Amino acid sequence: MHGHILQLCVIQAVASFLHLEPKTATVLRGSEVHFNCSTDETWTVMTWLLGGRPVLSISEVHGPLGTDDSVRTVNHSLSSVSVWELVLMNASFSPTVQELTCELLPTTLSRSTADLFVQEPFHVDVGHVCD
Ligand SMILES: *[C@@H]1O[C@H](CO)[C@@H](O)[C@H](O)[C@H]1NC(C)=O
Ligand SMILES: *[C@@H]1O[C@H](CO)[C@@H](O)[C@H](O)[C@H]1NC(C)=O
Ligand SMILES: *[C@@H]1O[C@H](CO)[C@@H](O)[C@H](O)[C@H]1NC(C)=O
Repeated sequence: MHGHILQLCVIQAVASFLHLEPKTATVLRGSEVHFNCSTDETWTVMTWLLGGRPVLSISEVHGPLGTDDSVRTVNHSLSSVSVWELVLMNASFSPTVQELTCELLPTTLSRSTADLFVQEPFHVDVGHVCD
């Protein structure tokens, strides 16, 4: 009996997921970029971090905590799966690769990361003619 319960727990642990998608995104500085964090785990707070710094926290019950003009969220959750979309607007971060993280609390092990590349907008210098 005990063994059966243990086995069920193991199967559940393997089956549960936390996905941050896309895994890689490239955005021009100043434009916006979208990511989805989805999970079937039970959570209380979802925190998004960019380069290790918190960008926004979302309460499972109350939704986004606090307001920040530089981010938007969309709740795409279904009854059994939580899906929150983060929109980083007006990407003004440094033009390098940064790690974006979606972290669930209280399960501290539950984090998923993606790489965000910010590129400088391409400038066309119409005044210069190459010869
Ligand atoms: C996030 O998920 C929603 C619902 O499945 C989908 O409509 C949206 O395009 C997704 N966004 C990204 C960035 O994958
Ligand atoms: C997110 O959407 C789900 C499914 O519609 C809903 O049950 C849940 O209450 C919503 N969460 C918030 C914080 O609005
Ligand atoms: C976008 O970022 C620029 C530079 O940081 C700033 O001047 C501008 O007000 C921002 N626009 C919005 C809509 O946040």
